[in-house]
Amino acid sequence: MVRETQVSLTDLIYPLFLVDGSNQKISINSMPGIYRWSLDLLCNEIEECISLGLRSFVLFPAIDDKLKDTHATYSWSDDNFYLKAIREIKTRFPDIVLMSDVAMDPYSSDGHDGLVRDGQIVNDETLPILAQMAVKQAEAGIDIVGPSDMMDGRVGVIREALDEAGFTNVSIMSYTAKYASAYYGPFREALDSAPKSGDKKTYQMDPANKMEALRELVLDTEEGADFIMVKPALCYLDVIALFKANTELPVSAYNVSGEYAMLKAAGEKGWIDYNKAMPEMLLSIKRAGADIILTYFAKEYALMQKTR
Ligand code: PBG
Repeated sequence: MVRETQVSLTDLIYPLFLVDGSNQKISINSMPGIYRWSLDLLCNEIEECISLGLRSFVLFPAIDDKLKDTHATYSWSDDNFYLKAIREIKTRFPDIVLMSDVAMDPYSSDGHDGLVRDGQIVNDETLPILAQMAVKQAEAGIDIVGPSDMMDGRVGVIREALDEAGFTNVSIMSYTAKYASAYYGPFREALDSAPKSGDKKTYQMDPANKMEALRELVLDTEEGADFIMVKPALCYLDVIALFKANTELPVSAYNVSGEYAMLKAAGEKGWIDYNKAMPEMLLSIKRAGADIILTYFAKEYALMQKTR
């Protein structure tokens, strides 16, 4: 009765990794329990998640190196299997909330979220590419687009492009304060999307900065974000709390791959009581102020609620 915080299944967004082909369920070394799925098997997985009470998913594509180029052209190509998958998933499961990833890195031969010229990430020339990617995802039926790229001004440009194309009902969940974090390692393994050279520090945030997060919050809000996000979650609970105190928008937090990997590894070694530590982790993110949590623990958490 006096408990202040609950983590409900409707607070959670479950990230899913998609590969081309059929009958594929490929494990990821550093993320035990998480797979790269082909669409056919992914649909079964989504069906199971729905039966457990999960409602919201974010989809990431793992793209073959052969299809990558400097301008991420495959991201808006009509035979892109990611766009086809969005269409099929939303047709089969119209009641779920499906969120996309908007960034160049899964499709980029440079492995960067923005366009690379002479070793530099060129912010403004990246914006039309991201806008086009978002419109294609909207055409395929996505509910929420998720710009994870951290270019300046992209929320406004994407909003305008979506509206012009008639997709006024598609929402934007902006990765507002996304830090240049070491905790993304396992994800980059999952998608084979690590930068080919350099790092992401010219566009992702310095982990030392908090006031800058507030500046990003103001910009994303003015540009038309419907949700704002802090990423990663655990080392940035103070930023989540700061956002909650400074916005009326829903605050989301991305409990990232490295956070998942750490807890899984310690649990597997028997160094920590995984079944207690995992819900405690989710609770702490919610208590800090997150309304929504993107987490690889979502399915296991749902299973736990069922067997409790
Ligand atoms: C890149 C992207 C990343 C993640 C989501 N989108 C990695 C990166 O910025 O290099 C990380 C998610 C995770 O670690 O779970 N657009």
